[in-house]
Amino acid sequence: MGQALRYSNAMKAFYCQSYGGADVMRHGELPAPTAGRGQVLVRVQAASINPLDWKIRQGDFRLLTGRRFPKVLGADVAGVVEALGPGASGLVVGQRVYGVMPIFLGRQGAHAELVTLAAKRLRPLPEGWSFEQAAALPVAALTALNGLRRCGALKDRAVLVNGATGGVGHLAVQLAKARGARVTGVCSARNAERARALGCEQVVDYRQQSLAELGRAFDVIFDAYGLLGFTRAATALTASGHYATTLPTPGVMLHALWRRVLGGQQIVGANMRARGEDYDELQQLVTSGALRPIVEQVFPLAEAAQAFALAERGGAVGKIVLRLGG
Ligand SMILES: NC(=O)c1ccc[n+]([C@@H]2O[C@H](COP(=O)([O-])OP(=O)(O)OC[C@H]3O[C@@H](n4cnc5c(N)ncnc54)[C@H](OP(=O)(O)O)[C@@H]3O)[C@@H](O)[C@H]2O)c1
Repeated sequence: MGQALRYSNAMKAFYCQSYGGADVMRHGELPAPTAGRGQVLVRVQAASINPLDWKIRQGDFRLLTGRRFPKVLGADVAGVVEALGPGASGLVVGQRVYGVMPIFLGRQGAHAELVTLAAKRLRPLPEGWSFEQAAALPVAALTALNGLRRCGALKDRAVLVNGATGGVGHLAVQLAKARGARVTGVCSARNAERARALGCEQVVDYRQQSLAELGRAFDVIFDAYGLLGFTRAATALTASGHYATTLPTPGVMLHALWRRVLGGQQIVGANMRARGEDYDELQQLVTSGALRPIVEQVFPLAEAAQAFALAERGGAVGKIVLRLGG
């Protein structure tokens, strides 16, 4: 009986049937994947939602995501190793793992009971971590970590985090603080207290105050929201300050190159980087208590539509997580 369930070829998933709005998403059964060469089959226990998921659903990256449907979304994954494909090594069946799914080029994501991915993309779950906590961390934290690293030393620096209570922002605030920065957070008024609790010494409501009113006070502006733009950021940056954005479009990066030639204020891309040393650093920070991913709400997979609606509406603090399995 147990065998039949384990090796059944169907799994529950939340997937899109075509590109479009929320109405193209379905909760239902899809064929379960099997682990290919070098791959691991993971029984998913938790997966989070990132803006990337609804951007893919909307067709914003069609050239990279192709025309194959149904498409399962979800980059962050935490679960248990169910099987190893030929040549996969470094993990064992039954091990608790987490990591990032490569969801471009026709690959399926983590909003499903079973996923396959290369063994090297998975990390053993540190002792004492919950699956929800692990699923909330990788994409957002690896993005914040890499973006801040590219802004140089932060000790005693004034850092402004734009979008300070969102998925990326709430971790960027804590990471900047852990590196000794004085942090100002920009968020909506209703989340001001939450931003202070994360470690922001000063909080600015983006609906009430423009950055220009703050003076050229910041060594770093980390734009977790992504759409502030260098021109507006520059009004609040010191003469050699760094503007880091989570939405480094080709136009922005061309501008960044030009700024490197000019000198003075610089632009850097805050992109996710998932090297072993990045995970090691994050794990140490979580273990020491300096970094705490906030899981704002957990939904069962069957209620993923509500979870997406909440995430897309905005206003939530930290991450929205889907719970699968028992
Ligand atoms: N390049 C990469 O590798 C990478 C990786 C991860 C994410 N991203 C991108 O980074 C962006 C943020 O991701 P996320 O996961 O943090 O999203 P999120 O959880 O939805 O957070 C967005 C945050 O922006 C705030 N915000 C909304 N309007 C704002 C405004 N006008 N000014 C300042 N802040 C504003 C929101 O505050 P309220 O909710 O309080 O309104 C919220 O805290 C997305 O575009 C995502 O695609 C890029």
